[in-house]
Amino acid sequence: MLTPDEIERWQDLDRRHYLHPFTDHSELGARGTRLIERGDGVYIQEASGHRLLDAMSGLWCVNLGYGRQELIDAACHQLQQLPFYNSFFQCTHSPAIRLAEQLCAVAPPGFSRVFFTNSGSEANDTVIRMVRYYWALQGQPERQVIIARRNAYHGSTVGAASLCGMPWMHAQAGLPIPGIVHIEQPYAFGLAGNQDPAEFGRVVARQLDTAIRDLGPGRVAAFIAEPVQGAGGAIIPPDTYWPEIQRICDAHGILLVADEVITGFGRLGQWFGSQHYGIRPDLMPFAKGVTSGYQPLGGVLVGDRVADVLVAKGGEFFHGFTYSGHPVACAVASATLEVLQRERLIERAREQVIPAFAARWQALADHPNVGEARSVGLIGALELVRDRAGRQRFAKELKVGERCRDLCIEQGLVMRAVGDTMIVAPPLVITEPQLDELVEKARRAVDLTIRSLRA
Ligand SMILES: Cc1ncc(COP(=O)(O)O)c(C=O)c1O
Repeated sequence: MLTPDEIERWQDLDRRHYLHPFTDHSELGARGTRLIERGDGVYIQEASGHRLLDAMSGLWCVNLGYGRQELIDAACHQLQQLPFYNSFFQCTHSPAIRLAEQLCAVAPPGFSRVFFTNSGSEANDTVIRMVRYYWALQGQPERQVIIARRNAYHGSTVGAASLCGMPWMHAQAGLPIPGIVHIEQPYAFGLAGNQDPAEFGRVVARQLDTAIRDLGPGRVAAFIAEPVQGAGGAIIPPDTYWPEIQRICDAHGILLVADEVITGFGRLGQWFGSQHYGIRPDLMPFAKGVTSGYQPLGGVLVGDRVADVLVAKGGEFFHGFTYSGHPVACAVASATLEVLQRERLIERAREQVIPAFAARWQALADHPNVGEARSVGLIGALELVRDRAGRQRFAKELKVGERCRDLCIEQGLVMRAVGDTMIVAPPLVITEPQLDELVEKARRAVDLTIRSLRA
């Protein structure tokens, strides 16, 4: 713990020198920052000693919770053995090879190769390069267009941000890059109106078919989507959505890319979110949970349809990073996969934790200012509304989501706000008493939010 003076000193240095990601710095300077000092299990602790249940697993990544000794030991051991070597120029090392083999073993059938990056954003930039190159190698270089979705989040590098369906990101940098087209998202609560959600799922999926026909089928390389949209507001597609998307991709022969950056490694109770929805992707970018956030690592699991062509006909693929397959990050990822397997954490999530979470989360739907309480796997969202009948939203200026997030923090809970949608994605290792605590604190925060509006 630090004294108030020490904390203030850090905050002052932070204000003066540190440009934070996705942050309004004038607002941050005025409000000050929270200094997070340590973590254990599902809790984090501020320098002031204030303890919070981290219901966002850091940023959708600390799936094993904080302080796992196996992961720390793996990093220390690898740092002593070989802290770095690259995989360029015919070199390789056992941590990267071992991890690639382990990933292919847990991936669905048809995935035998992995390309490593340092983040989810780089994984999605790799996807853009790889799918365009694949089609060029197939003698169809005019297949350049990648179709993504509005309100999708795929990362923040130039390519990944172009795939994102967030116009405010595009506006700051002259994006998207050419050849990226966006279709509607399957956000039933926000967009379906009176339409039956199952029908809405089919209708919105068919926008993919329309877009492919409008562009000309010979121009489309791939469709990319998150199995469940995370950063966009935990948007869970109706069950009818993914089968229709799969059918359309198959019918047109385009590549299907499932962005597994948050849904990979157990979050939906399967190794990959694609398995939960029965999706058969050709490429699966991943990151985050692969190391439980203990080291930066991402990559693309490359299905045989693409990998076989790259390997047989590709020549040199002019792409990669100094730290692709970084040995320390790979060693920590291997240890993460081993813990998931040894402790059967994904099976435990599927059979115990997810049903326990779903029942408690669903109970929040009785709150008069919760328009919808939805969840899938260990992802939950609460839609805060002024009036449940007619799904009437609060005025934007009231910043209800932000208020609720701040009140959660006061209660000792990290819950994220996307507009007035509150979202959680707790670690896989969360226990039932901790789930009780999460939901109790969430309910209290919603009550306090509404009370603060009346005041
Ligand atoms: C689905 C998805 N893809 C990609 C990314 C980008 O990952 P990173 O922040 O590691 O670059 C994120 C980050 O939240 C994400 O949620």
